[in-house]
Amino acid sequence: MAPDPFRLYKAGVMPTAVSRNQPAVDPSLDLEAEIARLKKERNAVLLAHYYQTGDIQDVADFLGDSLQLSQAARKTNADVIVFAGVHFMAEVAKILNPERVVVVPDLEAGCSLSDGCPPDAFAAWRARYPGAVAVSYINCSAAVKAQSDYICTSSNADKIVRAIPADKQVLFAPDRNLGRYVMKQTGRELVLWQGSCVVHETFSERRIIELRERNPGAQLIAHPECEEPILRMADFIGSTTALLTYVSTQPANAFIVATEPGILHQMRKAAPDKTLLEAPPDNAGCSCNECPYMKKNTLEKVFLALRDLQPRVELPEETRKRALVPIERMLALS
Ligand code: 13P
Ligand code: SF4
Repeated sequence: MAPDPFRLYKAGVMPTAVSRNQPAVDPSLDLEAEIARLKKERNAVLLAHYYQTGDIQDVADFLGDSLQLSQAARKTNADVIVFAGVHFMAEVAKILNPERVVVVPDLEAGCSLSDGCPPDAFAAWRARYPGAVAVSYINCSAAVKAQSDYICTSSNADKIVRAIPADKQVLFAPDRNLGRYVMKQTGRELVLWQGSCVVHETFSERRIIELRERNPGAQLIAHPECEEPILRMADFIGSTTALLTYVSTQPANAFIVATEPGILHQMRKAAPDKTLLEAPPDNAGCSCNECPYMKKNTLEKVFLALRDLQPRVELPEETRKRALVPIERMLALS
């Protein structure tokens, strides 16, 4: 298994936050123009998550949170889907589109939540609770989805849990922070898998309080993957899209944003006059609030993925069919 880039970085092994393994591309190429040309030629659609770098977001056909990206993947008529995000997101696009080519800029763009929930361990955990309903956050592998009853995202987790009859025991994997937040919202006891996101667990309560003191009136907005002390302080909690909408629709003039800073690219466009501050990580001076997986993708790799139609996301058909069931249940409820 490839070493976890975030852990390596924390141990000081890598000189920068992200090892991008940048391929050689002719520097005289106008990448934006080439990407536009190739998208037409291949009848391709470029879907991108808000944690991608600004240059990728700017050439995307569709930007969104995990739910919206899944919905866009289900709707598309394109022959090729280029998924600028992490592997589990592209896998969902493939599960929904077995007949289309799905490529990702970097096949190694994983996710600590997904990596921290191996399918065998998940199966053993599930087996300890016979009769329980398993709700899995979309940040998990297709093999875990295939063993789940429902998939949810940060924008619909409470709705999905509420849809399950009250007399049923509910297992929630793999993010314990989102799970705890859903427990609070629904008043429902959930059995939690103890996973977390390496990015959202880095925010420092103490440094956020200091930042707030220096910026009176600034609202703290947070993704539900953040740890409980941060969520307790937050003025608003939501998915990436919900955070973006909040910043552009609320009267406040300043926001401390406790999620991956890629989202600030769209926030600045949507609310150019507002002050947007990145929530600080514990370790001052590190870039631990940047997702080392999302940031493996580069504009050069998007270009190469479109040009070569590689690397492709492929899945065993049996896994795909089983993983489709809980995804379809989620989409029907969303
Ligand atoms: P959203 O669905 O809110 O965009 O979250 C995806 C994710 O990976 C957050 O870390
Ligand atoms: Fe996974 Fe966290 Fe990166 Fe989101 S930010 S893709 S949860 S590692």
